[in-house]
Amino acid sequence: MIRAVDPIRQMAPYALADLGGPDTVSLAQNESAFPASPAAVAAGQAALADLTLYPDPDWPEMRAAIADVHGLDPARVLCGAGSMELIGCLIRAFAGPGDQVLGTQYGYAFVASATAQAQAQYVAAPEDDLTVSVDAILATVTPKTRIVFVCNPGNPTGTLIPNGEILRLRAALPADLLLVVDQAYAEFADNDNDPAEIFALADRGDTVITRTFSKAYGLAGARAGWGYFPAGIAEELRKLLNPNNISTASQAAATAAMHDQEHMRDVVTRTATIRDRFAQDCRDLGLSVPESHTNFVLVRFADAEMARKADAALRAHDLMMRGMGGYSLSECLRATVCEKTVMDRCLAVLKEVTS
Ligand SMILES: Cc1ncc(COP(=O)(O)O)c(C=O)c1O
Repeated sequence: MIRAVDPIRQMAPYALADLGGPDTVSLAQNESAFPASPAAVAAGQAALADLTLYPDPDWPEMRAAIADVHGLDPARVLCGAGSMELIGCLIRAFAGPGDQVLGTQYGYAFVASATAQAQAQYVAAPEDDLTVSVDAILATVTPKTRIVFVCNPGNPTGTLIPNGEILRLRAALPADLLLVVDQAYAEFADNDNDPAEIFALADRGDTVITRTFSKAYGLAGARAGWGYFPAGIAEELRKLLNPNNISTASQAAATAAMHDQEHMRDVVTRTATIRDRFAQDCRDLGLSVPESHTNFVLVRFADAEMARKADAALRAHDLMMRGMGGYSLSECLRATVCEKTVMDRCLAVLKEVTS
């Protein structure tokens, strides 16, 4: 019998969302409520006309567009098949057996999974009222900690800590400890938190910032993420990234999407309007919803039994939110913000369940 090596055999597979049947509307994966920029769709389609050659391994147009929009050094922008690829490679490059990777209580679940792949130990610092606590992170650092991951805004909480807290964390962490700021949802919070302050941390040599085209840019299917790196860290990461990791069509679509900031900002505004209305409507039903700075909301029911009932009722109406048992939040469901008609359908179901 062919056997995988020990740590892999013992690993649980990464738990992806249940997406239901063909008629189910998914509110489970935090994809965009609205399509990508028409320019991005056209660029992707045009690139499909000739796929003879491997994609450019250096993503030149994509990183130039990113650098241009965000005022960054293109040489230090690296692109991944989703920011997941960058996160996984960072962990493999900078943590190994005997090392610890530190996340937070409700941090992005893939970090724990990628840590197990690297045979390192994942440790979670407690959060405070569903919000990242810099003091708790600092109290959880040990001499074995090699990487600290902070997701801001957070998933699945949707909560945000001010840039000042991230800067305070970096200043207090040892300089030989890598800080990764996962900003997958940052476009939904850039008005509140100046992105330049966080990107500037990469100049120190010990901090990486990751972002994605999967959320505000509406390109989850393209698998395109990016990060801003210190030069030395970028050099190590390149050794682990798959060469030609992003398809030609995805690079073209992501480049055009980045150039169309107006479309992205419009999507963010429309999403936030629907999100805030839905969150308030849920609160009016007596449910608890933390203020979200993302494209999803965390809906907290009276108890796990009520959340289970709501989940079953939503499924019966072909609506699928994401159960939060994996985060020990069984009394919660996470709902991606979709078009208003879908959120109205969800609200009608929740009204029935809670009345
Ligand atoms: C917090 C966070 N980080 C990273 C990712 C990875 O996104 P992608 O690989 O699509 O860029 C996600 C996806 O849901 C996420 O929620």
